[in-house]
Amino acid sequence: MSETARLQLGDQHIDLAVITGTENERALDISQLRNTTGLITLDEGYVNTGSTSSAITYLDGEKGILRYRGYAIEEIAEHCDFVETSYLLMYGELPNAEQLHDFRMSLRRHTMLHEDIKSFYSGFPRDAHPMASLSAVVSALSTFYQDSLDPRDPRQVEISTHRLMAKLPTIAAFSHKKSIGQPFFYPRNDLTYCENFLNMMFAVPTEPHEIDPDFVDAVNLLLIVHADHEQNCSTSTVRMVGSSDANLFASIAAGICALWGPLHGGANQACVEMLEQIIADGGDIGKYVDMAKDKNSGFRLMGFGHRVYKNYDPRARIIKGVCDRLLAKMQRVDPLFDVAKELEEVALKDPYFVERKLYPNVDFYSGVVYRALGIPVPMFTVLFAMGRLPGWIAHWLEMHSSPNKRIHRPRQVYTGSRTRKFIPVEKRA
Ligand code: CMC
Repeated sequence: MSETARLQLGDQHIDLAVITGTENERALDISQLRNTTGLITLDEGYVNTGSTSSAITYLDGEKGILRYRGYAIEEIAEHCDFVETSYLLMYGELPNAEQLHDFRMSLRRHTMLHEDIKSFYSGFPRDAHPMASLSAVVSALSTFYQDSLDPRDPRQVEISTHRLMAKLPTIAAFSHKKSIGQPFFYPRNDLTYCENFLNMMFAVPTEPHEIDPDFVDAVNLLLIVHADHEQNCSTSTVRMVGSSDANLFASIAAGICALWGPLHGGANQACVEMLEQIIADGGDIGKYVDMAKDKNSGFRLMGFGHRVYKNYDPRARIIKGVCDRLLAKMQRVDPLFDVAKELEEVALKDPYFVERKLYPNVDFYSGVVYRALGIPVPMFTVLFAMGRLPGWIAHWLEMHSSPNKRIHRPRQVYTGSRTRKFIPVEKRA
């Protein structure tokens, strides 16, 4: 017999089915609650609310486990590149050799932007934040590719997803080139996904550019560890916008905006800026730890803490390893990395952080790697967006293929004024 939970409301008893996921996560099914009782549930910040069931990513925040489609992130990071990881997320299975080849070829064929898109960049101020131009240009793709906007046509959807995967690095690199006043560097389809991105970022027409394979590996790994993270703020945004049947480009543009905030993807920029500030301020780590503990300071340790992870974020561990390898290979000492490691050590021994289970998250070390690669600080969150794109797409596809798909429309408990009599402007105090 299936398990139920009983809710008592005055004289009324309501039985709520207990839904169990494949990893034994349990949830109360309240889908009929309002119909049967007139009540809704209230859960600010959705801390206890499952918005959907999903077969894409599993994470156990207590144990520090992250799996894409059942495969451990550590294994994916070791054996796959970002394109293969993207296929896994989007199509649900690891590709065979032919499927992978076809997917790579398709992404290579779609890397160029329509020439008219370049004029958008002339309109943006040179100091525009690249996350703003990224979301604007992604949204504008729906004006250029009107032949593939129908979310109910599987072929159109597939073309849109490949176009977006292929073009996002080009859009990102163009933003960077615009910000430094260099000519746009066109994609090269003989290069791999990450080689092509680095080439568009750093090549100039006046001299040959060599792409460092260790840089390519580092970008690959960073994109992989960011590729999906179940129902986070930006992914939920993509699902929310997509639930109205808005096209893929519009849905992803909204996700990019959600990612930009410093409590989400923007934390990687905020974290590096915090580390720079600590160094500029004489490197007094204790002072910043104390500030983070003082609720009146308004200061938090950026790159620390997570809604779901109450253990070491497995992504942070992988990125810390990349940091170590990259800096050793470059024979470079980055004071930021040293401060980050010291800060982690101090915080992890401090009862405030221990009691609240606050550990370094994915953003704590990623900025140090981006710096080592020569990627400017405002571009950090753009790289997060490039990494998260296949996850957003996978969730958008999963939502559309669900027989339970409905427009997302939460309810509220109204706390404003009761009915008031209208006062004409001349009579208002
Ligand atoms: N520094 C100091 N105190 C913190 C921090 C922090 N970074 N994070 C949480 N706390 C405290 C918080 O003040 C609260 O204390 P108390 O129980 O005494 O009121 C407690 O820990 C629980 O925090 P919360 O704000 O209720 O937790 P949340 O789940 O709502 O927020 C978070 C999660 C990630 C927004 C938050 O930890 C934070 O602001 N971290 C810094 C920003 C950051 O690094 N964000 C990147 C997240 S990982 C990338 C991604 O997936 O987006």
